[in-house]
Amino acid sequence: MEEFENYFKMTIDAKLINEGFVRSMVAAFCVQLNPSVSEISDIKTAVSEAVTNCIVHGYSGKKGCIDVLVGLRDSTIYIKISDAGIGIDDIEKARQPFFTTKAKEERSGMGFTLMESFMDTLKVYNNQNGGVTVEMSKEIKV
Ligand SMILES: Nc1ncnc2c1ncn2[C@@H]1O[C@H](COP(=O)(O)OP(=O)(O)O)[C@@H](O)[C@H]1O
Ligand SMILES: [Mg+2]
Repeated sequence: MEEFENYFKMTIDAKLINEGFVRSMVAAFCVQLNPSVSEISDIKTAVSEAVTNCIVHGYSGKKGCIDVLVGLRDSTIYIKISDAGIGIDDIEKARQPFFTTKAKEERSGMGFTLMESFMDTLKVYNNQNGGVTVEMSKEIKV
């Protein structure tokens, strides 16, 4: 983790009850960069969407774990969230606004769109051993 000035890593059970915990942990860690209220709120929303996707889509509510890495460098926050679930067939399609494979469960299909608009960068890929990784970053303005 030498590329970061500071970082933390956590692995957590893929349960919906843990989503708020991850969101708050990431937000608390970011405080050292003096983010504005709106920057923190953007980051929380993006993390919330990514973690929820792991639980709801990656594992479909079954047992699993989520790996979270948050790193800071040059006033930019880097967030990596991975699961070892089913993966995504067509990532380009999945990233389109309103695309969802769980329309019956009232998913809006806006998760990736929100992550993309609230963060500066968003990368989504399937892991070699299965599951999905989402990498995003955001510069905290002075
Ligand atoms: N971690 C993941 N594992 C497997 N599939 C995923 C994951 N994240 C997203 N997806 C797929 O991408 C689609 C779009 O995700 P998203 O934009 O968050 O919309 P929604 O969650 O409302 O369906 C999901 O419906 C699902 O098919
Ligand atoms: Mg979603």
